[in-house]
Amino acid sequence: MQHNDLLARSQAVVWHPCTQMKQHEQTAPLVVARGAGVWLYDPDGRRYLDAISSWWVNLFGHANAEIGAAIRDQLERIEHVMLAGCTHEPVVALSEQLVRLSGLAHAFYASDGASATEIALKMSFHYWRNVGKPRKIGFVSVKNGYHGESLGALSVTDVALFKDVYAPLLRSSVQVMSPDWRLAEPGESAEAYALRAAQSLADYLVLAHADVAAVIVEPLVQCAAGMAMHHAAYLTRLRALCDQYDVHLIADEIAVGFGRTGTLFAYEQAHIKPDLLCLSKGITAGYLPLSAVLATDAIYQAVYADDTARGFLHSHSYTGNPLACRAALASLAIFARDAVLESNRIKGDYLDRAAQVLRDHPRVRHFRRAGMIWAFDVTKAGTNFSQRFYQAALTQGLMLRPIGNTVYLMPPYVITEAEIDHLLAGTLAALTVSV
Ligand SMILES: Cc1ncc(COP(=O)(O)O)c(C=O)c1O
Repeated sequence: MQHNDLLARSQAVVWHPCTQMKQHEQTAPLVVARGAGVWLYDPDGRRYLDAISSWWVNLFGHANAEIGAAIRDQLERIEHVMLAGCTHEPVVALSEQLVRLSGLAHAFYASDGASATEIALKMSFHYWRNVGKPRKIGFVSVKNGYHGESLGALSVTDVALFKDVYAPLLRSSVQVMSPDWRLAEPGESAEAYALRAAQSLADYLVLAHADVAAVIVEPLVQCAAGMAMHHAAYLTRLRALCDQYDVHLIADEIAVGFGRTGTLFAYEQAHIKPDLLCLSKGITAGYLPLSAVLATDAIYQAVYADDTARGFLHSHSYTGNPLACRAALASLAIFARDAVLESNRIKGDYLDRAAQVLRDHPRVRHFRRAGMIWAFDVTKAGTNFSQRFYQAALTQGLMLRPIGNTVYLMPPYVITEAEIDHLLAGTLAALTVSV
């Protein structure tokens, strides 16, 4: 293997995210030399279907010619300029489109999801402070929710593995009952359970609303929690409660935005609009780091003033990077031209039918789907199931990383029926050797 040298160099200096580095003594990371469509290629030419869209970012395949051309064109014009005191066509055009598509009013930018969470929390706090309600400083999130891992974002994240160690550094926040329909009582519908879960927020807000700035939620799918899905009625009820109690609703669509759940934004399925919307990941179709926070005009107006100190002075060096904005615009152009959501519905239905054998597998529970996300839980999975399954999937030509005992499929939207067949056959084979 020619890439042993690269692996040794990597192990010496590269510190990987979300990884206990010592485990790489047993299993090496996958060396990726190039990508094309849904495929990742190692230096020996072996290929792996990127079944989780490289941590949920990729929409239209690797090395997409159209997105690449847009970035190259922008590279010839201006690669980056600071957004404080300057503006440029890509950021203006992208903001216009995001405002039109989201129904919100103003777009603020950063480079990753956690920063978007930080910005949304700060904007909400700042709004209440400027409108004369400085007591409203509390944040409410949902049990098992994930909003990123910088300290502010981690404060509203509820995943023990990522949070507990850093607990002494974090500001406290309140978690309300999860709407995950797997937790419903026997005979209770997903909708009834969602409304019961929302009642726990109602119970909290009736007592505490004067101290609460915002509720932050991952609409329809709590991805990092293991693709926990809920009924849209949950979001409709949350919106009503936030209106009733004068609390902001922050939709964290960092993972589910841009068509993942079947609509461009997941909250559309609940016929609501949030006050603040966090976007990242798929915003550039997985090409360059970018995140955005869309805000209502009311929030914007609360910090719009003659006094500098009343303004929202948050900043990142790469805010509104023109290359990333061009990638995002190229992705939105594909959405507009190719009726992507409709074609995803057809592909999704094909995958659903073809997955019957997985659904019927004796070890598979809670097979579920939201748009272009499928997941199932594996019973009696044994120790280290996730690592064992991951390795088994690689031998099947698949990059597929379960979350605990939950196997999920989140392929790029350009996947073909033949590639879906490969994905499902490999998933079944990996499951068979892993349980
Ligand atoms: C819902 C949600 N919010 C926030 C984040 C954090 O994004 P990033 O990893 O870009 O900081 C993620 C990442 O998985 C996410 O799924």
